[in-house]
Amino acid sequence: MSTPNPQHARIRSLEGYHEAYHLSIHHPAEFWAAVAEPFTWRRKWDTVVDSDMAAGRNEWFAGARLNITENCLDRHLATRGNKLALIWEPNDPKERHLRLTYRELYQHVCQFANVLMNNGVEKGDRVCLYMPMIPELAIAVLACARIGAVHSVIFAGFSATAIADRVNDAQASLVITADGLNRGTKQIPVKRVVDEALETCPSVRKVVVVEHLGWPVQMDPERDVWYHEETDNAAKTCPAEEMKAEDPLFILYTSGSTGKPKGVVHSTAGYMVWADYTFRNVFQVEENDVYWCTADIGWVTGHSYLLYGPLLAGSTSLMFEGIPTYPDAGRFWEVIDKHSVSIFYTAPTAIRSLMAEPLDNVLSYSLDSLRVLGSVGEPINAEAWHWYNEHVGKGRCPIVDTWWQTETGGIMISALAGITPSVPARAGLPLPGVLPVLLNQDGSEIEGNDQEGYLAIKQSWPGMIRTTYGDHDRAVQTYFAPYPGYYFTGDGARRDENGLYRIIGRVDDVINVSGHRFGTAEIENAINENPNVVESAVVGFPHDVKGQGIYAYVICREGACRNEADMPRVEASIIETVVAEIGKIARPDKIQLVSGLPKTRSGKIMRRILRKVAEGETGNLGDTTTLLDPAVVDEIIRGAK
Ligand code: WTA
Repeated sequence: MSTPNPQHARIRSLEGYHEAYHLSIHHPAEFWAAVAEPFTWRRKWDTVVDSDMAAGRNEWFAGARLNITENCLDRHLATRGNKLALIWEPNDPKERHLRLTYRELYQHVCQFANVLMNNGVEKGDRVCLYMPMIPELAIAVLACARIGAVHSVIFAGFSATAIADRVNDAQASLVITADGLNRGTKQIPVKRVVDEALETCPSVRKVVVVEHLGWPVQMDPERDVWYHEETDNAAKTCPAEEMKAEDPLFILYTSGSTGKPKGVVHSTAGYMVWADYTFRNVFQVEENDVYWCTADIGWVTGHSYLLYGPLLAGSTSLMFEGIPTYPDAGRFWEVIDKHSVSIFYTAPTAIRSLMAEPLDNVLSYSLDSLRVLGSVGEPINAEAWHWYNEHVGKGRCPIVDTWWQTETGGIMISALAGITPSVPARAGLPLPGVLPVLLNQDGSEIEGNDQEGYLAIKQSWPGMIRTTYGDHDRAVQTYFAPYPGYYFTGDGARRDENGLYRIIGRVDDVINVSGHRFGTAEIENAINENPNVVESAVVGFPHDVKGQGIYAYVICREGACRNEADMPRVEASIIETVVAEIGKIARPDKIQLVSGLPKTRSGKIMRRILRKVAEGETGNLGDTTTLLDPAVVDEIIRGAK
């Protein structure tokens, strides 16, 4: 047996990777104890790992006491106090950017932690954040963690109804928002959306509002307070609350194949170790890197790789308020040159949207500072990979295609930049601690290379989901019961002839639109709220920029849509309903009004057929003999044309 040593915390060669991997799988306790050693612990653990995968029970570093913000901030003050922790780049390039050193960020976090306490937030309380990508969002998230409140960030593109669902599920006592947000040329009054949502959220006692655009907003004198007024009077130090290793750090809502989005719960110690370890190793981060992750903090990528991972590692993290195409399609590249970004992490959908623009937008920037490129959210197609490699990386930056999920807490399968193989359309090898398997439908393991199956994970890892908020059984049913003894990912994958993993896509009723997950049932439920609608079925279809688009087949109530002239009005009204129920991000790309849906005799919709029609593949629809009424298929094919 190799002896654990702190060098395993940082892999520097292919040989080192294999050694670390072997140790992590065969002696996980020794391996992770060595990795966890350098963190600040108020008390060390009694047990490194205690796992019962079949029961969905996983504990890491039990007995340990810590606060994650002491590891993100306090720990760095002596050596990195004057180093930049955050660079904030505004939506409008003419506006001033902002830089915060570790010491300044520490003070802001402490101040706002005091504000939260002054407004009645206690350890264990849930706080929801619905905010633009501004420094106050990063500060507020960390302030929650400082006092042991559980943060739940809601992406600021969700509708009032979607906010209310999440706030009520989490039973949040306080909400943090802003007067408004900038997105390219658009400005959105987010406080107004929150006000509407909170009409049905009795648990919320206080709302903290950041003045960002300087817009007039309605303040409820009993409930609403201004961020700047509250912080002005707050102390700049705040002792960190001592947390147990398994205390929840945050809830993040994500879609699954059934019902409403579920609150994925992450732990404190395991998540911390995983976010830090994966960040440093995948991106091969060095002390002077300027790192930029373009994800919004409303998604898990923003949690683990804009905020926690970089700050735990003592890196400089760039936060961008805007969009890739404002004021023009060169904005990403302009920002990279402006701040000398050396590591850049973005999504395939962003790359594809910029590929469609004239090449001058990228060629007019030097991009000399870049060293490592990353991709996340969906499979990156070969064409986008090559464009990214050639025009952004200039052929000299390794690309890491990182596969992971909200539930996994951090990157699971990916190249380590410049160390393990990076091949187009392959995520690559598993990270140390990750034991992926391919399963047949019956749950048996598929051995060997050049094989395809359901992707599952056989061994507990520190960053994995602990539960779904308020309903542990749902976590068990979703992730651990389908194949007992494994964590089921919901993705299909191929292990190629060299043992590299290629992620094929979801095998359940989840679609991935621009890297955002939606359950088809969730969108159907929204469409069905429309008074014109009797029933609907939603499937994904290949989309050049978004990866997958949303295709909705809708049956209307009799008389709602009498002729073709009625159609645009009905479709617009359906879109309006989806935007109100979920948000603009879930807007259907295509709506087809139909008189029936292809159902089996037992009443189950045959989505396979609907998917084929949406893909324009009507030649071979497979077996349709079990359909109740095969004639509806012909009508649907005709309607699609
Ligand atoms: C997909 C985002 C292929 C996958 C971090 C997964 C990917 C879902 C990749 C999770 C990738 C994410 N290659 N597919 N590199 N990264 N996915 O929870 O289907 O928003 O199950 O987490 O996105 O999406 P989530």
